[in-house]
Amino acid sequence: MDKILVHGGRSLEGQVRIGGSKNSALPILAATLLTKEKCVIDCVPDLSDIHYMLTILSQLGAEVERASGVVQILAEKIRTEAPYEIVRKMRASVCVLGPLLGREKKAKVSLPGGCVIGDRPIDLHLKGFEALGAKVTVKGGDILLEASRLRGARINLRGRQGPTVLGTGNVMMAAVLAEGETVIEGAAEEPEVVDLADFLTAMGARISGAGTQRLEIEGVKELHAAKHTVIPDRIEAGTFLVAGAIAGKKVTITRTNPRHLEAVLTALTTAGFEISHTEESVTISPNGSRKPLHLETLPYPGFPTDMQAQFCAMLATRHGTSVVTETVFPQRFMHVAELKRMGANIELSDHRATIHGVEQLSGAPVMASDLRASAALVLAALPADGVTEINRVYHIDRGYERIDEKLNSLGAHIERVKA
Ligand code: UD1
Repeated sequence: MDKILVHGGRSLEGQVRIGGSKNSALPILAATLLTKEKCVIDCVPDLSDIHYMLTILSQLGAEVERASGVVQILAEKIRTEAPYEIVRKMRASVCVLGPLLGREKKAKVSLPGGCVIGDRPIDLHLKGFEALGAKVTVKGGDILLEASRLRGARINLRGRQGPTVLGTGNVMMAAVLAEGETVIEGAAEEPEVVDLADFLTAMGARISGAGTQRLEIEGVKELHAAKHTVIPDRIEAGTFLVAGAIAGKKVTITRTNPRHLEAVLTALTTAGFEISHTEESVTISPNGSRKPLHLETLPYPGFPTDMQAQFCAMLATRHGTSVVTETVFPQRFMHVAELKRMGANIELSDHRATIHGVEQLSGAPVMASDLRASAALVLAALPADGVTEINRVYHIDRGYERIDEKLNSLGAHIERVKA
């Protein structure tokens, strides 16, 4: 298992280019199962989660070709059973359910287990499929979906914790081939849902309201070939901005969409950083002040849960006391214990972290527990005193393309050690 060694104390300066969004690309790749014709998807990031999705599509019978960010998929004939060995490696595998149900009216996919950030149920996805007319059975660890026909329906997908991103995408992918009109209320408004709706529309689907809480979908008989470019990854972008905040003189991220980053940019501005942007780039410069923050994660357009850990790392060395409340995944604080090993002063109670800023963190051996928690540890290590050894790096490779090389190009000193 690879590990990463971060030699702390270097300051960062320069430009870094942001890759395509992982969370957009995953359901978009799954959506290519909805047509027998060839689809071409550009700006697909080179990540292990994407590799798993492409493997699942191949095993379902699709022909997959990939060359430097461009993926071509021809799903002329498909099977409807996704094998457990691959599915279990990635929770987002569940987003093949919607397309399989939409096209073949049946699917058999393993039920994903919990993960370190919480229980992660998919009851809302299943509720949506049932409303469209599918019979849902859970047997032997698998979800079985079956329908003689799918009919449009009125569905409210809002759960106790708010809307569901992949659930909205999944039900939308089944509904595009259902008979008649489907209305999804309580839909997720995330840019990744809009990107998926844009791709489905390019394939011939009829969807309106993407980016709002109400989606209207007029079912069509079949979909056709389409080309699509995946939007830039707003979480990778946010992570590099926090790197700039923590250790930067002046860092610019390019190929990004500042409109998708509003909550993150507001938080950074409130914390005292100077932010400027163009249509496609954002620059962050420190201005000497080190104000604490009060943050609450919320569904889009609120502050993203996927940026919570990285902000905890930044706030660990701010002056004063910051409070971070996690409302989307209340148990998502695995990074706190590791940050404390580096000298952070953080109290956890319920779903809230109270962070008392310390002058400096110190390097330590730490354990990556999940994707964003691992990114937070890399960020915390950048200005720390000494060397931080981050184990279980595979977590970070699930969602960041060459994060070590990209940070090194800005002046960091990070080594990847092969086990
Ligand atoms: C997606 C993102 C993930 C991000 C999350 C929230 C992908 C691949 N992953 O995950 O990075 O952190 O959105 O922005 O896009 N819930 C239910 N029942 C369900 C589904 C969800 O109760 O059927 C709950 C979840 O436990 C959670 C909340 O709803 O508390 C939001 O989860 P959801 O939006 O579904 O997350 P994902 O789509 O899985």
